[in-house]
Amino acid sequence: MWPMSFFCAFLVSSFLLVSSKQVVISNVLPRLDTNGSYVDAHDGCLVKFNNTYFIYGTVYGKCHQSTTICDGECGYINNTFALYTSSDLVNWTLISNNIVPEVTKDNNHINYWMPNVGYNSRTGQYVMIYWSSRYGFQNATVALAVSSTPFGPFVNVPPLVMQGGRVISSTTGLFVDDDNTAYVRYNTRDAPLRHVIEKLSTDWMTSTGQFSIIFEKQDYPWYEGGGVFKRKGIYYTMLSTDCCFCQWGADARTFTSTDLLGNWTYLSQLDYCADGKTPPDHVDGMNINPCSINDPYGTNFTIPAQQFNVATLPISSEETLYMYYGERFRSSKDGIKGHDFQAWIPIEFMDNDTPKPMKFYDNFTITIQKEYSAELI
Ligand SMILES: *[C@@H]1O[C@H](CO)[C@@H](O)[C@H](O)[C@H]1NC(C)=O
Ligand SMILES: *[C@@H]1O[C@H](CO)[C@@H](O)[C@H](O)[C@H]1NC(C)=O
Ligand SMILES: *[C@@H]1O[C@H](CO)[C@@H](O)[C@H](O)[C@H]1NC(C)=O
Ligand SMILES: *[C@@H]1O[C@H](CO)[C@@H](O)[C@H](O)[C@H]1NC(C)=O
Ligand SMILES: *[C@@H]1O[C@H](CO)[C@@H](O)[C@H](O)[C@H]1NC(C)=O
Ligand SMILES: *[C@@H]1O[C@H](CO)[C@@H](O)[C@H](O)[C@H]1NC(C)=O
Ligand SMILES: *[C@@H]1O[C@H](CO)[C@@H](O)[C@H](O)[C@H]1NC(C)=O
Ligand SMILES: *[C@@H]1O[C@H](CO)[C@@H](O)[C@H](O)[C@H]1NC(C)=O
Repeated sequence: MWPMSFFCAFLVSSFLLVSSKQVVISNVLPRLDTNGSYVDAHDGCLVKFNNTYFIYGTVYGKCHQSTTICDGECGYINNTFALYTSSDLVNWTLISNNIVPEVTKDNNHINYWMPNVGYNSRTGQYVMIYWSSRYGFQNATVALAVSSTPFGPFVNVPPLVMQGGRVISSTTGLFVDDDNTAYVRYNTRDAPLRHVIEKLSTDWMTSTGQFSIIFEKQDYPWYEGGGVFKRKGIYYTMLSTDCCFCQWGADARTFTSTDLLGNWTYLSQLDYCADGKTPPDHVDGMNINPCSINDPYGTNFTIPAQQFNVATLPISSEETLYMYYGERFRSSKDGIKGHDFQAWIPIEFMDNDTPKPMKFYDNFTITIQKEYSAELI
């Protein structure tokens, strides 16, 4: 006799149901999780694995940032990394507020930021790179952690040693190309101050040593930002003025290339000052508001945020959302740093595919598709 399960397999066929739903994404209402708590996951990434959206970010906690730029304490000390998931980009569930448990060993003196996660389909591993003051400002190493599921926990493995700079400065990010090759984008502290993009090995565990320079400048302060995305065969990187938790935000200088390891060309500014003015190419320090040189409380940028990423989200079979992902420091109503707003801004394109200067939207509406697999007996 055939075992029952074998017999059934002939009669079951599974198929996909697709439903569309409109969702409103707000930049002015606090983002709360399913338990009604603030989503406290900052400066990381928003990625889609299969049908689920994942936010990996830094937990800033309940401290108050006392000054208009970073104070070296609040958002520096006691950081952990959190994971929230959602099926619709609106309803978020906290999975863990400590997804790389090892950071709690020394986060009372080591600073942790910018968890970026990608899925390596060749190894079946979820790979996280993140910024750690153990390496950042010290040498050209980038922290690396892995997990067999996107839900973690992520476990540290030997870090990447990058070859396009001697000392990495303040930002690191991960970009995964369509062919599943991964690249790390970082800025350098050794002069000239560069933004470098460097190719990893197929298992993403080491650098290949192949890199290109997106941009370089001789004088301080350096540029930050660094969201990398690809649209219609063109790669984009958005860089910005140095903003150490600054409350006015930063610009979005956009560079393009048809080859990640080739030459990069400056395209345009996508984040002007809120009064429409072009920010200067150079200011004397990260404590200066480029939109209001003598006044930290003056005009902010149009998107008054420090950029950390561009989320590339296939929201339906027809549409990919390219979404600027930044932090609006000192924006929370109660002054608690973990409650600061993020800016999620859709990047819009002209008919000739050039990105348009961004506008701040209090909210925006998108249509997302959800897939369900169902079984018909
Ligand atoms: C959410 O709230 C429920 C009920 O209060 C609690 O049992 C659960 O642990 C909370 N979950 C998280 C992730 O905080
Ligand atoms: C998507 O789901 C399939 C089937 O469960 C799994 O094999 C694959 O690893 C998943 N991909 C990602 C990126 O999670
Ligand atoms: C970090 O944690 C320690 C111990 O709990 C606490 O005393 C300190 O105030 C915290 N600092 C910040 C900036 O959160
Ligand atoms: C939000 O997500 C949770 C967990 O997936 C689910 O139980 C709940 O029904 C969702 N709520 C809404 C309003 O979609
Ligand atoms: C980078 O610096 C860290 C901390 O000082 C050290 O542990 C590590 O060995 C250094 N790595 C390289 C490749 O120099
Ligand atoms: C990059 O630019 C340099 C200098 O303009 C040029 O010599 C080189 O051929 C270019 N490389 C590519 C791959 O286009
Ligand atoms: C600039 O942004 C900060 C932080 O959100 C806010 O407190 C301030 O009111 C803004 N300034 C202006 C002129 O809009
Ligand atoms: C979205 O913003 C518009 C304009 O500010 C406002 O009229 C509308 O009520 C908002 N919608 C939601 C759902 O927040």
